Amino acid sequence: MTMKKLFIIALIVTVASIISCNDVQRKPSNVYIPDMAYSRAYETYADHSNLKDAGINYTNLPVPGTIARGEEFPFPLAKDAAGDTTNYFASKKIKGPVDSLSKSEYTETERLYLINCGICHGAKLDGNGPLYKGGEGPFAAKPATLVGDAKYEAMPEGQMFYSVMYGKNLMGSYASQLNRKQRWQIIKYIKLKQAEGKAPVAVANATAKN
Ligand code: HEC
Repeated sequence: MTMKKLFIIALIVTVASIISCNDVQRKPSNVYIPDMAYSRAYETYADHSNLKDAGINYTNLPVPGTIARGEEFPFPLAKDAAGDTTNYFASKKIKGPVDSLSKSEYTETERLYLINCGICHGAKLDGNGPLYKGGEGPFAAKPATLVGDAKYEAMPEGQMFYSVMYGKNLMGSYASQLNRKQRWQIIKYIKLKQAEGKAPVAVANATAKN
């Protein structure tokens, strides 16, 4: 009796499964919570323009005005459009936030200057670094004579910062090599060197004090 019952159940199950498998399913069934079934994950550096069509507004750029941790002293001026000099001139009014360099800061800033700037502007800031070498070096444009040229001695810190941040003619931007604080410190270093050229004793004392 039980064997017969079992046999009937097995027969029904087998027939049912054969019938259901035979039918080719042409329409996929509805998916419950498709976001969970199909990942919307994206690769960081992939092209995301297609996501816009799906209503996802993703951009891998920081929100405008974002200041990275450690990036003190925001600079309020944007880069001028080609041919425009409005912000370049406006930058003259921006005061450098670095008032002095302690002895260790001075040593570190000098190191950064020699790595990033000295190759062109020279260890003595005379506009004659190894890349220029009086016109014999591989870099054809004459770098600014930061010490010894009245034009650059009179140049306000904010305008120097503008040029270091956005570049000036053949000099590129140094915004990615040096953070804002380091850039302002280098400009302070240039200003100290300019003052040193005029009154060596006074500045030597001023920097040694810290
Ligand atoms: C590859 C060579 C090169 C390097 C490296 C370089 N400069 Fe220059 N720099 C130049 C040249 C060339 C000019 C002249 C640009 C002009 O006025 O046409 C210049 C001009 C300047 C000026 C004057 C900008 C102005 O508005 O007239 C400043 C200030 C300056 N550089 C600072 C720096 C500092 C600080 C660094 C390092 C972070 C640096 N430079 C690195 C080549 C260089």
